[in-house]
Amino acid sequence: MNVEQLLKAHGKPEREVYFDNENSGWISQEVVDAMLPYFNKRGYGHPSITHRLGWEAYEALYNASEKIASTINSDVKEITYTHSGTEANNLAIIGGVRANKDLGKKIIVSSIEHLSVIFPAEKLSEYGFNVIKIPVNNEGIVDPHEIGKVIDKNTILVSIMYVNHEIGSIQPLKEIIDIVRDKNDKVIIHTDAADAYGRIPIDVKKLDIDLMTLSGHKIGGPRGVGCLYIRDGVKVDKIIYGQLSTQELWPGVENVPLIVGFSKAAEMMFKNFEKNIRHMRHLRDTLMNGILTSVDETILNGPRGDKRAPDNVNISFLHCEGEAITVELSLHGIYVSSGSACTSRILQPSHVLLAIGRRYEEAHGSILFKIIPSHTMDDIKYALKIIPKSINRIRKISLGE
Ligand SMILES: Cc1ncc(COP(=O)(O)O)c(C=O)c1O
Repeated sequence: MNVEQLLKAHGKPEREVYFDNENSGWISQEVVDAMLPYFNKRGYGHPSITHRLGWEAYEALYNASEKIASTINSDVKEITYTHSGTEANNLAIIGGVRANKDLGKKIIVSSIEHLSVIFPAEKLSEYGFNVIKIPVNNEGIVDPHEIGKVIDKNTILVSIMYVNHEIGSIQPLKEIIDIVRDKNDKVIIHTDAADAYGRIPIDVKKLDIDLMTLSGHKIGGPRGVGCLYIRDGVKVDKIIYGQLSTQELWPGVENVPLIVGFSKAAEMMFKNFEKNIRHMRHLRDTLMNGILTSVDETILNGPRGDKRAPDNVNISFLHCEGEAITVELSLHGIYVSSGSACTSRILQPSHVLLAIGRRYEEAHGSILFKIIPSHTMDDIKYALKIIPKSINRIRKISLGE
């Protein structure tokens, strides 16, 4: 593929609306401006070295942790930065199990976890751990009692995501945690909250959670930075080794500019939290209902209303390939992703869509739109003008008309 030629042929559409915030996000100028000084104006030193630029870096790290910790009601020392949400999930699953291996051999996850939870859990099964995947209902929601049934004295770790990244289903996490603690209060409980953060209120103390993953680019921060909340006193082992800096569990020099950007994005997401949520929910429902009523043979993936994250719209367009839709919409400046195997980097259609009972062909025609606070009603109206025509065109072509 010659990307230069492809881009030339594509051209720059008159209007652009970026909805692919699931995979990589647009960053506001405020977040960029917060990061820039830390590349070459201030705090570009090593945060563990004792000179002015090192102290500035240390101060920036501390302030960022204070900001992030305050949004989830945790303490600064409970935040460990990683270079992504993927790394934070690996640290939670592998590091959590390794540090607590005397607790048992059973690991429980849901069937719709992000692959950065599923793959490390499956890896541990090669080392004698028994991994149980709890199914979800057709809206993508786990029944807490199904988890309760499999918790026993041999259970070491439970990992259930707070909000699903593909279909926006919000799990009854507090209920799950209470049931797990009631059956065995030693179990380490982790939640991947990358898609819940900034969309639903999170209070780690009220939840009574041990470990929680966050990721920068899922809230309008830069990609390549994440963190793991580790409740004070919970044991986690290092999973990578090297020169330690300010963090006990994650060696290497901290990426101060990205961490500053992550904390700035968190600050902005939480500054007008209620207003942002109302706005995103309104746009979500307008887009979702608009597509479902104007395009026939469509299926909504995931729940409606309060059980769904305010930013998530996921619709299967029958008799269409996801790849054809992403390309056709791109020509009109609308950028989305698909749960089809052809557009993702793995060879299987989305395991999340299969877990809620979608057939292969339904998963192949699925499109994910992720709304962010800076989207406007005009963006949604533009999408609603383009989508029905584009789907019509794709269906006609695939029928050979
Ligand atoms: C729910 C969830 N967890 C974890 C991750 C991984 O985060 P990162 O892209 O920072 O590695 C993602 C990324 O999209 C996600 O959606």
